[in-house]
Amino acid sequence: MTISSAVAHVHWDRDGTIHNMGHVYEGHPSYCIFRVPAGSDFKDGKVVSTVKSRWKFNPGYYHSFSVTENYYVFVEQPLVINILKILTCRIRGISIPDCLDYWPDEKVIFHVIDKATGEKVHESFEYQSDAFFTFHHVNAFEDGDSLVLDLCTYNDAQVIKKVYMKDFSEENVEETLKNLPKAMLSRFVLPLTVNQQTPCDKNLIEMPGSKATAIRTTDTTVQCTPDVIYTKGFELPTVSYDLYNGRQYRYSYGFSIQSEKVIALVKVDLVSKTSLQWDSPGCVPSEPIFVPDPNGSEEDDGVVLSAVNSVTEGEAPFLLVLDGKTFTERARVQFPGVQINRDLHGFFRKTVESQL
Ligand SMILES: [Fe+2]
Repeated sequence: MTISSAVAHVHWDRDGTIHNMGHVYEGHPSYCIFRVPAGSDFKDGKVVSTVKSRWKFNPGYYHSFSVTENYYVFVEQPLVINILKILTCRIRGISIPDCLDYWPDEKVIFHVIDKATGEKVHESFEYQSDAFFTFHHVNAFEDGDSLVLDLCTYNDAQVIKKVYMKDFSEENVEETLKNLPKAMLSRFVLPLTVNQQTPCDKNLIEMPGSKATAIRTTDTTVQCTPDVIYTKGFELPTVSYDLYNGRQYRYSYGFSIQSEKVIALVKVDLVSKTSLQWDSPGCVPSEPIFVPDPNGSEEDDGVVLSAVNSVTEGEAPFLLVLDGKTFTERARVQFPGVQINRDLHGFFRKTVESQL
């Protein structure tokens, strides 16, 4: 198995099976989903599915994907990799974002792959949407005949050109934060039962409280628009992963740059479409990590952890512990004299396995 690159956000099943995907640049570039059995080495990984890129020299960029009980879901978006540039970027001294092009007139295509067979669901149809950009999938799950897909979306890919190291230098950071595009928490719903008898020009989504639409527009396309649930900035999302990844769920926790002064952590209730927020003057939290209460019974029983830096001179960084339910501070552990990197990603794994 030769993969040219793999996405940052690997998935694992409750039995320890690992799922990931990547690009294959050789020949006509393709997207490759692979699986490593529980307890095995990467060399035992098997390719589950290969999907050709729409564009011969420009595969779509992606950073994450989703896994449900029966499907893989990934998004082929019009932020594309210029293969010639990426293969020569080192000798030309250019960075990865400089090897990406954004084509706003192209559609996003949602690829749904059957986990058991590796085949694309509805080979004759494409689920599509007008252009947007996403780094992070929040979660996805099957709900009757529909597949629900939650993403952090941007109207375009400008953000990727605004997160260079120089943009976060002391003299530039305030201006960068002021102008940073805000990610939205967007829920798409894909109807899985679409076929040639499905009527055209009718919204196929009948989900109470949802504004998501999916309309068969031609013999081969279903055009989708999302229900936009949170708009004030929602990135680095997490859920109660071991219990709810790929399953119907209610809560997600995210990082929210709302202005140059307000950098917050947010809990979004995707059912009531309400949110709770933690922020504190001068504090810069990192990605939230949800740790479930081993004795809890509800989805948000647990705590949310985040490493917090202060921009105030002399203030020690600290590990923030928020109550998962109320999103209020339960504890903080300060680290005087220590510097904590402004990190992006981490995750929690318990050391004692239990039946899930
Ligand atoms: Fe990421």
